[in-house]
Formats: sequence, structure tokens, C-alpha cells
Amino acid sequence: MNPSTRAACVIGYPAKHSRSPKLHGHWLERYGVDGDYRIEEIEPEHFQAFLLNLSQHGYVGANVTMPHKDAALKLSEPDERALGIGAANTLWLDKGNLRSTNTDVDGFVGALDSAAPGWHDRITSAVVLGAGGAGRAVVYGLLERGLTAVHVVNRTYTKATALREAYGSSVEPAHWEDLPKLLEGASLLANATSLGMDGQPTLGIDLSTLAADAIVSDIVYVPLKTPLLAAAEERGFTTTNGLEMLLHQAVGGFKLWFGVRPEVTRELYELMAADIPATS
Ligand code: ATR
Repeated sequence: MNPSTRAACVIGYPAKHSRSPKLHGHWLERYGVDGDYRIEEIEPEHFQAFLLNLSQHGYVGANVTMPHKDAALKLSEPDERALGIGAANTLWLDKGNLRSTNTDVDGFVGALDSAAPGWHDRITSAVVLGAGGAGRAVVYGLLERGLTAVHVVNRTYTKATALREAYGSSVEPAHWEDLPKLLEGASLLANATSLGMDGQPTLGIDLSTLAADAIVSDIVYVPLKTPLLAAAEERGFTTTNGLEMLLHQAVGGFKLWFGVRPEVTRELYELMAADIPATS
């Protein structure tokens, strides 16, 4: 490899099956960038040493995934988003300093912007299922776009109340039993739980009372069309899926490492979708 080649990687454990090299590889080729994107499977006990020596390993930056997102935050200089979400997934070297952000927010709002431009001008409240790492990013993105009421429904109620403590009174924690009432007339429903993923229980929700022009979003991308999204499509709602979010969350890292803001195109979506089951 040319010594001037800029390289980034995804660090995880396990990481072998990451789809990110295919995604970034497509953009590197499309924009003619002299760059490389590799997988680094690093055990938790070796993560700190690896990250703190990123440039010696030949990298200008990295994505970080399970189980390293919390550690990455502590070992770097996080921006406001990474701090607010409490996890970092994208890191870059800036004049020798290791900085970090969380691009899961861009993934979620980017997919919505693309499927329903101007959505945040007409929507003031949302229902979010899940209060884990993904749920925090989703709620953060909705508040950033000015929503005034975000109902967070989570199996473990205390994790939903923790989001209110972290983000303020626009977050309204709720129990799973409250869901039917919350869905009445709702304009935006986002699933940020693993329910509906292949191998997990299905998310069986009655969507009949949602607003006629509702948007339904799912972070799950295996399968591409979860039972929730299939039900939403059947009713004619606008939908966004987890693959769209994955693509949009990758934009920020590519720009930071390689200097080009890449576009999420239909061609890229089709390329990435080719080896993911369409339905369960
Ligand atoms: P991630 O970082 O992807 O959000 P996570 O932090 O493990 O992963 O969160 C998973 C989310 O899915 C949580 O909201 C979890 O609910 P709990 O906080 O109660 O664990 C939710 N989840 C997972 N399995 C579930 C199930 N069988 N029923 C309801 N919620 C479930």
C-alpha cells in the first residue's frame, strides 16, 4: 500500500462480520480516494492500548462498535453529541488529539430527512420504543430537531426515566401498557429495541390508530423489512429502516477521515441490501 494512503478501521469484538468495509469501500472507489477501511477485531483488554496507538497502527481514525463504545468515550475528547449520548462510535485524530463523536444521531435523522423531508416542521411529538444506546441516540436526535414531547416506552422503566433526567422534561417515560394510548394519533413511531430482529421476538403493535400521515422508523436491519415496517407499509405510512440509518451514520466518519462528504445513493443501498434478508 502507498504510504500516503489514509486508512480507517472498525474496531469491535466480534467484528469479522461488519458491513462497514463494504460500505466505505464503495465510497472510496466512487470518489477516487486513496484510502483503505479495514476490520480490527480487538479484545476488550487490548482496546485501550490499540486506540491510544491508533496512528502507529496506521490509522487516521476509526469506527468503534460493541463492546467498546463506552470505553471509546472515556479514552477520547468527545464532542457534545458523544457526551450527551454517553457513547462514541466515530473517532479521528486531530493534530495528534484523539477526538470522538456519535454519528448514530445522523443515522436516524438522516434516514428520516431522506424519506420525509421537512418532517420536523410538522411533527412535534414522537413515540420511541427502547432506551438503550440506540434509544438514547434516537431521543437525542428528536430533541435536537425541536420536538417538544418524546414518549419513551421501555421494558425497564427506570432506563426511560433516566433519559428524562439526562435530557429534560420533553422526555416522557412510559410503560409498555401505555403504548396503545400513546399511539392514538401519533405522527412518528421509532423502534429502537432489538424486537423484530431475526432471532428475537416480534414487535406486535396495532398501528391502526396512528395519524394518517405517520412515519414509522425501525433501527433493525436484519431483516430489512421487519414485521413492524411491513405492517406500516400496508397502511401506507412512510417508513425508514435500519440499513438506511447505517448508511447515513457512516457519512460523518468518511468525511472526517477522507475529506469528502459522501452521498447515500440508491445504488449503495441496493449494494448493501443484496446480502441481507428482505423479510423474516
Ligand atoms: P442498543 O445499544 O442496540 O440500544 P441495548 O442497550 O442492549 O442495545 O438496548 C436494547 C433495547 O431493546 C432496550 O431498550 C431493551 O429493553 P430493556 O432496557 O428493558 O432491556 C430492548 N429489548 C430487548 N429485548 C427486549 C424484549 N424482549 N422485550 C422488550 N424490550 C426489549
